[in-house]
Amino acid sequence: MRHARHLLLPAALLIAACQPQTSAPEQDPAATPPPAASVPPPAVDAPAADTAGATGAAGGTMPEGMGPAPATISATAELKPTQGNQTAGTLTFAPVDGGVRVTGQVSGLPPRSEHGFHVHENGDCSAPDASSAGGHFNPAATAHGRVGQGEHHAGDSDNITANEDGVATVDTLLQVVTLGDATGTDIIGKAVIVHADADDYTTQPTGNAGGRLACGVISAAR
Ligand code: CU
Ligand code: ZN
Repeated sequence: MRHARHLLLPAALLIAACQPQTSAPEQDPAATPPPAASVPPPAVDAPAADTAGATGAAGGTMPEGMGPAPATISATAELKPTQGNQTAGTLTFAPVDGGVRVTGQVSGLPPRSEHGFHVHENGDCSAPDASSAGGHFNPAATAHGRVGQGEHHAGDSDNITANEDGVATVDTLLQVVTLGDATGTDIIGKAVIVHADADDYTTQPTGNAGGRLACGVISAAR
């Protein structure tokens, strides 16, 4: 009898080890007992947990230094049409040398049209015209301009261009911004705006890109 149990246990562990590939590991009851059984006496950790709890209650967020490595973070933004418009899209943000690369697609644009595309300072798309997103993200208080050609806002980007179907494929670089490092240049929690007109890269401080067709908040992806 004892012998049989010793044979069964390894078999059960083998099955458990194979299951996470086909079913959710966290919901697999067979996967939970071993860790729980091997860590019964951690009541000693209680004082440390109390300290962490106090810090968490005061700050509300993860203590600094405990976050994931910024280099591995990515983010997304779901662009939703402003009132009276049909422009929408999905964008992905990834850190690269010299800034953040933005890729994705934006649809619902006039065929073969060019549109200003910026990160704006407030992650708030609630206004019908997305005016709640504020102006271009500009932590260094620089002039509006074009990426790679002298001074520009951190939130400035090249225009996006729609194809004959009104779909723009986005692959652009944001310079002087960061992703998820909680510094002044971090674009997590900021908004992306697609404008009605092209950015002329010159007019201050907007590039004269016209109204706002779509807005989305940049959120960390996990
Ligand atoms: Cu803009
Ligand atoms: Zn600008």
